[in-house]
Amino acid sequence: MVQQQQQVVFDAAVLSGETDIPSQFIWPPDESPSPEAAEELDVPLIDLGADEVVRLVGDACQSHGFFLVVNHGIDAALLEEAHRCMDAFFTLPLAEKQRAQRRAGDSCGYASGFTGRFASKLPWKETLSFRYSAAGGGEGVAEYLLRKLGEEHGRRLGEVYERYCGEMSRLSLELMEVLGESLGVGRGHFRRFFERNDSIMRLNYYPACQRPLETLGTGPHCDPTSLTILHQDNVGGLEVWAEGRWRSIRPRTGALVVNVGDTFMALSNGRYRSCLHRAVVNSRAARRSLAFFLCPEMDRVVRPPGELVDDDNPREYPDFTWRALLDFTQRHYRADMRTLQAFTDWLQRQPQPQLQAAAT
Ligand code: OGA
Ligand code: NI
Repeated sequence: MVQQQQQVVFDAAVLSGETDIPSQFIWPPDESPSPEAAEELDVPLIDLGADEVVRLVGDACQSHGFFLVVNHGIDAALLEEAHRCMDAFFTLPLAEKQRAQRRAGDSCGYASGFTGRFASKLPWKETLSFRYSAAGGGEGVAEYLLRKLGEEHGRRLGEVYERYCGEMSRLSLELMEVLGESLGVGRGHFRRFFERNDSIMRLNYYPACQRPLETLGTGPHCDPTSLTILHQDNVGGLEVWAEGRWRSIRPRTGALVVNVGDTFMALSNGRYRSCLHRAVVNSRAARRSLAFFLCPEMDRVVRPPGELVDDDNPREYPDFTWRALLDFTQRHYRADMRTLQAFTDWLQRQPQPQLQAAAT
């Protein structure tokens, strides 16, 4: 029986039309979306070329850890192509997608609700994730996708996402200059910290769902990574927790959604908030989003610059490495709204030698 249950697959072509959804996807009432549409959050579109960018970004990061950018220099044609490639991939027959199947304990590959480690509160989505190393370490995006998906399905995808990740990495470093300036540590500090970033790119595909109020596309969570740059299509579904309730973020063609993640919250010694967010689904249309998660090099020690620590602002989090936090979210803990706290509590219970070795 157990065997049989494991073989149930998230086949969007079938599930998106079903009037009943498998119980594993049903979320408890206190976590599922409310019947009234979430009120829109009025977020300013920050023009990256404008004079007040440092102040606007700083304000946004102190309040919700979330903002939208325009005039970011990412080619509209590249964004469109990246979305077309998502459609091409997710509409492939399941067996083709499974050539890139994500394995337990791995952060890369193709995954859907039933193929993960969990049996309840499953997200109504399929994802394809891969690593991007700015320093060129290990297998590149193009090579990975070509190796996994083959010439016919992997070649074009690989070329497009290699380019997309390069652009996202470049933009992240630009944003790091702004964040550094807004925190008073100078433009170079965080840029240098992330220059050789070892990041993760994730394609999120949320099929339509006939029971959209009982499930979630992505449950409430803070991204454990450092900074997320997301591009959503025009369907809508992203929500951010602000002023004590869920608020929707209206899609805007051409704008990129940026949010602070847990690792940057630790780097800023808690000054900037890791943004709590989720994605709801709907009964009308599939929805796509492209998420670039900026991450430090694996063994680089995450520690706020001295300027952000003093008697009034003591250290909020211990030193850690991204490798340790990533591993924690892969093996011990499902990322949610309390990941960073759970991780630091766990870390303080561990013997310390590995981390010290990495720090020296
Ligand atoms: C994520 C995420 C939201 C969305 O991938 O971490 O929060 O709108 N996605 O797809
Ligand atoms: Ni997220």
